[in-house]
Amino acid sequence: MSEAMSILKIARMGHPVLASVARPVDDPTAPVIRRLLVDMLETLDDIGGVGLAAPQVHVPLRVVLYQVPAARNEGQAIPLRALINPVLEPLDDTMAEDWEACLSLPGLMGRVPRHTRIRWRGRAGDGSPVEGVAEGFHARVLQHECDHLDGVLYPQRMTDMAAFGFAEEVRARLAAVASVQGSARG
Ligand code: NI
Repeated sequence: MSEAMSILKIARMGHPVLASVARPVDDPTAPVIRRLLVDMLETLDDIGGVGLAAPQVHVPLRVVLYQVPAARNEGQAIPLRALINPVLEPLDDTMAEDWEACLSLPGLMGRVPRHTRIRWRGRAGDGSPVEGVAEGFHARVLQHECDHLDGVLYPQRMTDMAAFGFAEEVRARLAAVASVQGSARG
């Protein structure tokens, strides 16, 4: 790649860009959008995360980047995918709760209810229309990232604030619970 890449600064909860509704992208093939995707990719690679939305790098446009590791998608990894102007639609009313974290809330995690099956559509990084159905963790990642485009962070989706805390503490508690349940079974 001939163009230089940049690691972008991540906005943290409290910054107004994370509480605003992002603008649709007029031309997904514009050089400025290609550049944004390259920089977001470099940033996600550097920080390590499942996904990143443009408002998280202080760009108020409807662009997300995400991937799903095989271990979270029944053995089938979803390679890094850019979605421009994404639209999500729940396929039914079924919701499930699971833990989420966010680069904009460093060190924290919370248990968030999400739709388990959704239809998604948008434009790919090359501007072509793309669509599909997502389930489980894949659906969760899409809902988390697309919420960023509407100024919504995961704590705003939580129904039980007792399930919100510092990741180190939560993970220690979950490990202790698993160990107690394990010994009860054994
Ligand atoms: Ni996030």
